[in-house]
Amino acid sequence: MIERAAPWVRAESAEKPTSLKDWVQSDVYHNERLIKADPLLEGIHQRATENGLPQIAVSEAQAKFLSLLVKSLRAKKVLEVGTLAGYSTVWMAKGLPADGAIITLELEEKHAEVARANFAANGVADKIRIIVGPAAETLKTITEAGTFDLAFIDADKHNNTTYFKHAERLVRSGGVIIVDNVVRNARVADPDDTDDSIEGVRVLLEYLKTNRDVDATTIATAGEKGYDGFLYAVKL
Ligand code: SAH
Ligand code: DHB
Ligand code: MG
Repeated sequence: MIERAAPWVRAESAEKPTSLKDWVQSDVYHNERLIKADPLLEGIHQRATENGLPQIAVSEAQAKFLSLLVKSLRAKKVLEVGTLAGYSTVWMAKGLPADGAIITLELEEKHAEVARANFAANGVADKIRIIVGPAAETLKTITEAGTFDLAFIDADKHNNTTYFKHAERLVRSGGVIIVDNVVRNARVADPDDTDDSIEGVRVLLEYLKTNRDVDATTIATAGEKGYDGFLYAVKL
């Protein structure tokens, strides 16, 4: 294998030490200019907190990115693995045309219940079907191969590769598969970190190394959700 040279660091980034606080401030700065405040969308987090759900939804900027991607692809059918309170689901639904639809998969009935309330409150319930159960099983019941424009994988990281293979089956040629949390504060690249969820990302990356049916890249992110990143794959 060809060894990659260590990338050189731009002087600008080497000179200014940054902290997570700087990146949160940066997210706020950009979001204030590019994303319209929406009390209904913010209500999703409130309902999640009130019901004791973990605060692990995508960031506001990433949620809008998913919504923009839906628009770019002119997507009509979206698959999501991991609903939680439905924050990413609602944002994606808002990018869909009137006849667009999302199937979202969630393990926990309690999370699904909160998500359903959020879909209704945001006026997108008619666009979203939520299927409750372990996604590795419920994915087998989705048979419309090659008809989805976008898949967003954001559930238990241990099963990332299982979910990715289903997404490959279900997404059309030219469609996109996004996998959340593939950087995890650079832990994925740390050989001393043997956490099961981290290992789940590595298994996916190994799988993609020899996969000829998709082409992919990882984009690292810094902001209100810390240091992380997502994988962007195109079905060829
Ligand atoms: N996409 C959401 C966040 C999802 S958090 C957002 O950005 O708003 C991850 C979710 O995956 C949790 O709700 C968790 O219950 C769910 N999950 C965990 N294991 C799962 C499994 N085996 N099948 C389906 N969902 C699962
Ligand atoms: C966790 C899961 C996520 O999907 C995420 O975006 C952040 C954190 C977690 O399980 O800790
Ligand atoms: Mg996530």
